[in-house]
Amino acid sequence: MQRAVFGRIAILSATVAFLAGIGTSPPANPQQRMLDRGRFLVVYGGCNECHTPGWTDSDGRLPVSRWMTGSTVGFRGPWGTAYPVNVRLWFRETSEADWLNAVATRAGHPPMKWTDLRALNIADRRAIYRFIRSLGPAGNPAPNDLPPEREPTTPYIDLVPSVPAARTPGP
Ligand code: HEC
Repeated sequence: MQRAVFGRIAILSATVAFLAGIGTSPPANPQQRMLDRGRFLVVYGGCNECHTPGWTDSDGRLPVSRWMTGSTVGFRGPWGTAYPVNVRLWFRETSEADWLNAVATRAGHPPMKWTDLRALNIADRRAIYRFIRSLGPAGNPAPNDLPPEREPTTPYIDLVPSVPAARTPGP
């Protein structure tokens, strides 16, 4: 009799434990949480808009395999022409410490978002690095930057504001 009661209690508690588990996924480990955070920051930080060809046209629906592979469309201004690097390859050559140092100190060519990145805490700067690094290498290096006097042979976006022609006063 007592045995049967204990048996029922055991079955009941197993059922409760099973039901409690439904609908909840196991908590992500710290490494996975960091990669998820990095992915979020890359999207929210607009990194793909410059560093991933076709991102804007696809409305942000490109597979992650294409993310951050660099662009042949330059950004031209008084500094010359700068190309969004292939960050997947770049981070193979750049240590995490160098990346953190670059974010803290770089005054690179516009429009790279160094100033925006400095608003993030160190854990978030690190998360961006780890996420992109976790994607592995892909694609080809972007073209080298050009000095101001060199005419680009690739498409480029002119970052110098255009001033409308002065209107001639009417009669
Ligand atoms: C508006 C366009 C634009 C956006 C947005 C942008 N970048 Fe860049 N990025 C560039 C350009 C252009 C360069 C090349 C700059 C240069 O030559 O100095 C660059 C360079 C880099 C480099 C090379 C750094 C170095 O030491 O020269 C890394 C790494 C990088 N970007 C990562 C990112 C990440 C991560 C984000 C998102 C937080 C981001 N970029 C957002 C345009 C952009």
